[in-house]
Amino acid sequence: MIELINVGKAYPDGTKAVKDITFTVKEGELFVLVGTSGCGKTTTLKMINRLIETTSGTILINGTNINSYNPIILRRSIGYAIQQVGLFPHLTVGKNIDLVPHLLKRDSTDSGKRISDMLEMVGLGAGSLKDKYPVQLSGGQKQRIGVCRALAADPQIVLMDEPFGALDPITKEQLQDEFFKLQRKLKKTIVFVTHDIVEAIKLGDRLAIMRDGVIVQIDSPVNIIKNPANDFVKQFLGGYNFKVEGDTIRIEKIVTK
Ligand SMILES: Nc1ncnc2c1ncn2[C@@H]1O[C@H](COP(=O)(O)OP(=O)(O)OP(=O)(O)O)[C@@H](O)[C@H]1O
Ligand SMILES: [Mg+2]
Repeated sequence: MIELINVGKAYPDGTKAVKDITFTVKEGELFVLVGTSGCGKTTTLKMINRLIETTSGTILINGTNINSYNPIILRRSIGYAIQQVGLFPHLTVGKNIDLVPHLLKRDSTDSGKRISDMLEMVGLGAGSLKDKYPVQLSGGQKQRIGVCRALAADPQIVLMDEPFGALDPITKEQLQDEFFKLQRKLKKTIVFVTHDIVEAIKLGDRLAIMRDGVIVQIDSPVNIIKNPANDFVKQFLGGYNFKVEGDTIRIEKIVTK
């Protein structure tokens, strides 16, 4: 469980990127932070693994204040995937995936099996990508490897910052579907950042809609569609027709010609 209590971040230049944010992510929940560019999503995410330090408020992981952990140990215990993927170019795919387990000194005799299991899990089992370098992969393959690496040490908590950001719509949808199925099986506690409302609604158990460093609404996708908190949320949902039928949400894009 992750708890943010009145969390804020003022950067040294005075920018208040995050102002007084409070939310709880339950065990096994996929919680999405969604909002337009610059609203503070990445800053919020990075405060959870202390890549950025808070300037106010408290963050607890399983009831313990994150400031009581060594930041490096904390970071290794939490999976992290980012939009730019961030694979190390000088390491093979296999070594990139095994980076954190290796740092955690997991048994190296298991590493071959661990890597092939991970590749299998994200639908790359058939090819022999293990010994390739990131430069030899397509964008979609790199993003899959990024997700693999975030999950490789089997962390209970995973932070994901626009992990499918730079993909064409078809590959993106495919990866979202695979990821959704994977999460149903793995039940990680995930904070997932996106600016894409469709992605948020499709993947999230609950969403927090952010604007200018604050959260304007937190709820399940169905409740947000049924009861948008204000005009900003309505506008954010505005480009689509969302039809709720029981637990299913159908999404149609509105096209004006
Ligand atoms: N190191 C920094 N110093 C000063 N201001 C910063 C710094 N990093 C980010 N900011 C500002 O903080 C605000 C929030 O940035 P953040 O990266 O959290 O936004 P975001 O919601 O992730 O946006 P995007 O969707 O574009 O990635 C922005 O106004 C940004 O310019
Ligand atoms: Mg960002």
